[in-house]
Amino acid sequence: MTTSHDAALRLSADKRAASEKKRRRGILAPESLVDPNKFLPITYPWARQCYKDGIANNWIPEEVAMMGDIEQWRSQTVLSEDERRMILWNLGFFSTAESLTANNIVLTLYKYITNPECRQYLLRQAYEEAVHNDMFVYICDSLSLDPDEVYSMYETIPSIAAKDEFVINMTRSLLDPAHQIDIETLEGKQTLVSDLIGFYVIMEGIFFYAGFAMMLSLMRQQKMVGVAEQFQYTLRDESVHLAFGQYLINAIVAENPELWTPEFQAQQIAHIRHAVELEYAYAQDALPRGILGLRSDVIYQYLQHIADRRLERINLPAQYGAENPFPWMSEIMDLNKEKNFFETRVTEYQHGSALEW
Ligand SMILES: [Fe+2]
Ligand SMILES: [Fe+2]
Repeated sequence: MTTSHDAALRLSADKRAASEKKRRRGILAPESLVDPNKFLPITYPWARQCYKDGIANNWIPEEVAMMGDIEQWRSQTVLSEDERRMILWNLGFFSTAESLTANNIVLTLYKYITNPECRQYLLRQAYEEAVHNDMFVYICDSLSLDPDEVYSMYETIPSIAAKDEFVINMTRSLLDPAHQIDIETLEGKQTLVSDLIGFYVIMEGIFFYAGFAMMLSLMRQQKMVGVAEQFQYTLRDESVHLAFGQYLINAIVAENPELWTPEFQAQQIAHIRHAVELEYAYAQDALPRGILGLRSDVIYQYLQHIADRRLERINLPAQYGAENPFPWMSEIMDLNKEKNFFETRVTEYQHGSALEW
């Protein structure tokens, strides 16, 4: 006779088997083999944690007051021509880079990443990229900038165009709707991991960081504090995006070690080294004479320092051995320590200094 106890045992054995099956199928299992709607049990706790970290960082641009920035931007004496150039270059780059990143999540990654908790994070990240897109609309509106000028800088300013083009080239085959990769093949897996390195490690992990350093330097001088504060919140979001990307890359490689060939590794190191040079060229262009005690050669050293950290996080060898010239960048990322810094904002974020990038 079957008792309810037997039935309960059988049910829990079935659940364990289902959980084991889900785990074995990995992050890239085609939808025909995995049920992307079965959220529990969680196989990748880091994806869940990144989702929670994202929620703890919640913000919207309109919470940040812009009156002081509007006055400073209108004034003929507060900002130098070089400071205005640097601000415009960063608005020009970020305004379109955010939308490229969002498109990559929705049009590419969501198709191939079938694990439900990873997809849940991709949804959260896509929302955050929408907030970042909105931030540039809010800034353009507040400062009455010419939207045609800002939103075409990714085509008209060569140092910005070179960065976008480089990432797009790394991922072109995935973005082409006519080109479907076969995720079961070695080539397909390498193409996807190359996309992840292009967007998470290079775009969000290197190409955003000269801009962050420049904009947060302004904030330290009490200039354009509303704009800079939004860059600070974006930096905190991006540090979680970067963490998720690195976990994701490492998990895919661990599940598919055959893709991590010496040639593939060498190619990715070369991409990252090339990205550092493109970002340096961008910093020289945005800061031709140096301002605020910030020079492009020091930014170069900072880029080399962070590139080494990014490489190590995906188990590739550091290339530069450069010291961090901006230790204040790590401090500024921890808003809990800085909660009295901005009088314009009262919300205290929960997410703290656990992440170091
Ligand atoms: Fe973003
Ligand atoms: Fe991002």
